Amino acid sequence: MFKMAVLSGDGIGPEVVNEGVKLLKALDRELNLDLVFEEALIGGIAVDKYGLPLPNETLDIVLNSDAVLLGAVGGPKWDNIEVSKRPEQALLALRKNLGVFANIRPVKSMKPLLSASPIKSEIVDGVDLIILRELTGGIYFGEPKYRDGEKAIDTLVYHRYEIERIADIAFNLSLSRRKKVTSVDKANILESSRLWREVVNEKAKEYPQVTVEHLYVDNCAMQLIRRPRDFDVVLTENMFGDILSDEAGAILGSLGMLPSASIGEKYALYEPIHGSAPDIAGKGIANPLATILTIALFLRYSLKRETLARIVEDSVEEVLKEGYHTPDINIEGEVVNTTKMGDLVVSKVLSKLEDDRK
Ligand code: IPM
Ligand code: MG
Repeated sequence: MFKMAVLSGDGIGPEVVNEGVKLLKALDRELNLDLVFEEALIGGIAVDKYGLPLPNETLDIVLNSDAVLLGAVGGPKWDNIEVSKRPEQALLALRKNLGVFANIRPVKSMKPLLSASPIKSEIVDGVDLIILRELTGGIYFGEPKYRDGEKAIDTLVYHRYEIERIADIAFNLSLSRRKKVTSVDKANILESSRLWREVVNEKAKEYPQVTVEHLYVDNCAMQLIRRPRDFDVVLTENMFGDILSDEAGAILGSLGMLPSASIGEKYALYEPIHGSAPDIAGKGIANPLATILTIALFLRYSLKRETLARIVEDSVEEVLKEGYHTPDINIEGEVVNTTKMGDLVVSKVLSKLEDDRK
């Protein structure tokens, strides 16, 4: 039995998560994956019910799960609430409690979407990279962190072990890909970055097959736009990864397409990268493809079903190729709503499974 905690959250969260769960249930019926789902509240909706964005009830459920599927948290209703109750805090606490230090954010171009990118097609075509972001350290979590009148302090800390374990994941990921790791830091300025670079270079010796390069983060931001195809695994610390992953996502033309997996020793957390999009929430027009591609990551990393993961990814691309898309994507073809998009992908996946059996 594989226990999945389902945390839909706020805004479009429930709408997109529905489509992800719909796909998983269809796969479960077809292939007996033995999945069990348990729902829990997180974010603003939890603040409304329990006065806390990550209530103990929810924490118990996730700590009892094998993987967590999360929609999105936050919205204008909770924007002016005290800091400790902000929905984003729930996300940080969840990552920390689950110990999911390795955040995998794949960015892969799809032919049908090339025209939706703000970058020239010949630059975007063939992009296939992973931003591997350290997720439980750095300036997001360092102490002290406080306000003192006119002064505000945040602290950027990294320990050797934190860098070693994320570097290991980067090298391992690259082994099944193009065997290139680009480590991103600001080693000309930051002491934590100098340690980062040192440790990555030491780790690199254990992986002689892998090519390693180091880029300063500002330069990396530029190169990602100029030559995104050259990147394979981009290894970086928490805040640089936050920024670079949005940038890399924009290259594809819609944030509505980006999945993510966060992995730790024991737990895994799966979430689309986009936010709760309160402006379109409840209208049934949100793009569920980031969540559906997130399900593919779940199949790949938690269930180790690589072939199945690919079937889901290929199905998404084929449905787009047939012209079906949600309104956030500016391409030719037929505009469909959230549930229709989910249905189209599910039937595509099922027909591919059927073909495979023949
Ligand atoms: C992300 C988001 C989060 C982050 C926020 C919502 C806390 O931007 O997952 O990229 O900064 O990590
Ligand atoms: Mg972000």
